[in-house]
Amino acid sequence: HKCVAKVKKYLKPFLLSQEKLQEISARLKKNMIQGLGKHTHHKAPVKMLPTFVRATPDGTEKGDFLALDLGGTNFRVLYVRVMEEEQKVLKMDSQICAIPQDIMRGTGEQLFDHIAACLADFLDSQNLKGQTLPLGFTFSFPCEQIEIDKSILIHWTKGFSCSEVEGKDVVKLLRDAIHRRADYDIGSVAMVNDTVGTMMSCGYKDQSCEIGMIIGTGTNACYMEEMKNVKRVEGEDGRMCINTEWGGFGDDGSLEDIQTQFDVVVDKTSINPGIHIFEKMISGMYLGEIVRLLLVKLTEDKLLFKGKTSEALLTPGRFETRFISEIEEQDRGLKNCQNILTELGLKWDSVDVRLVRLVCDTVSIRSAHLCAAALATIVNRIRENRGLDYLKTTVGVDGTVYRKHPNFSDKLQAMVHRLAPNCSITFLVSEDGSGKGAAMVTAVAQRQALSHLLEDSDSDRKEDEEEDK
Ligand code: GLC
Repeated sequence: HKCVAKVKKYLKPFLLSQEKLQEISARLKKNMIQGLGKHTHHKAPVKMLPTFVRATPDGTEKGDFLALDLGGTNFRVLYVRVMEEEQKVLKMDSQICAIPQDIMRGTGEQLFDHIAACLADFLDSQNLKGQTLPLGFTFSFPCEQIEIDKSILIHWTKGFSCSEVEGKDVVKLLRDAIHRRADYDIGSVAMVNDTVGTMMSCGYKDQSCEIGMIIGTGTNACYMEEMKNVKRVEGEDGRMCINTEWGGFGDDGSLEDIQTQFDVVVDKTSINPGIHIFEKMISGMYLGEIVRLLLVKLTEDKLLFKGKTSEALLTPGRFETRFISEIEEQDRGLKNCQNILTELGLKWDSVDVRLVRLVCDTVSIRSAHLCAAALATIVNRIRENRGLDYLKTTVGVDGTVYRKHPNFSDKLQAMVHRLAPNCSITFLVSEDGSGKGAAMVTAVAQRQALSHLLEDSDSDRKEDEEEDK
């Protein structure tokens, strides 16, 4: 018991009160406004990127699409057929290609050649090489979007660091790679962040879905903002989906009060120190490492494993985030914990097992609560934007941490409810947002381009008529 009390002292900095979370939410709100502002944007840590997605699906979308999905450890190619009558995806074939570490950190040309080669294989296998299909590209990194088909990478996140891509138009890099091969071509391209794909794929089912959230390798959210608040894009009417890139919250030092010594180490030893501080306290790429650092410290201070560490425990990355989910499982958690500790070469007793579980619990609850604070900021904003006393809305969600962890979603939902008491939120887990969602964005973009064209030719015709008079 003495031991437990001592360990709790180490864990205390991870416990965030509701008041603290409210304060963090208020800070994020300020940062979001800063990110939207014309003259404040350039130094805003939360980038609030316009996506040029102006509408969620209305159910009339249809067509055949290719979709690419790059953002985690795997790269996927998909062929998606959307049928209007049944309002559903008729067919979806896909192929996964691994992205080896040396390509994740090699040159941009290598990366895009690899992508173009995977796409070529897939088109061959589907007998599609002769067609020129529109393509939705789910590219889950912060991009300054100039148009739906022009998107400039601001900086890499989540373990990628290919040279010669930051500051460049990703669509052009893809097209160039395809043209270098010259054995097939693609049609129009729509660039999509995974949050946007998630929102759009849920929006197809539930038209009140106007937020997309990811808690996986990284974390981020998007939502429909009023155009009049999107100061960096012309026009006052209607709405546009904003990719918040909330992972960058804290990059100006504003989260120093809640960063623990372990968060500081995780950031310093990452390949992009100083970037995406909020994400590094929350997402799957980092949670396991935070737990590992805590366990190392507790062992050093003789509060675990009788002070005896192991080589595995001392190796960065060896404590995987999925271990946390396994250890927190209701029935099999303690057994899983024993197996994991044994596999890490540690000699444990029953107190150790319970303490390790407590550490996992603490780190994952903090993550869920921080996400809750951020999501509450968004729903409260939408409610205020629309001058409503009460908002009913739907959030499309995806990501391994949200999906796989046994009680992450419960913890998150309970806290959002407390932080946004005037909002009722339905959480929809997206079915393949980065495939279907990308197709949806492409379809909506086509529908809108078409209606613009019609409007234009309509006004041309009217002008002609005027002149004739
Ligand atoms: C990172 C990326 C962001 C993405 C998120 C989830 O935060 O910067 O664009 O949405 O990961 O994959």
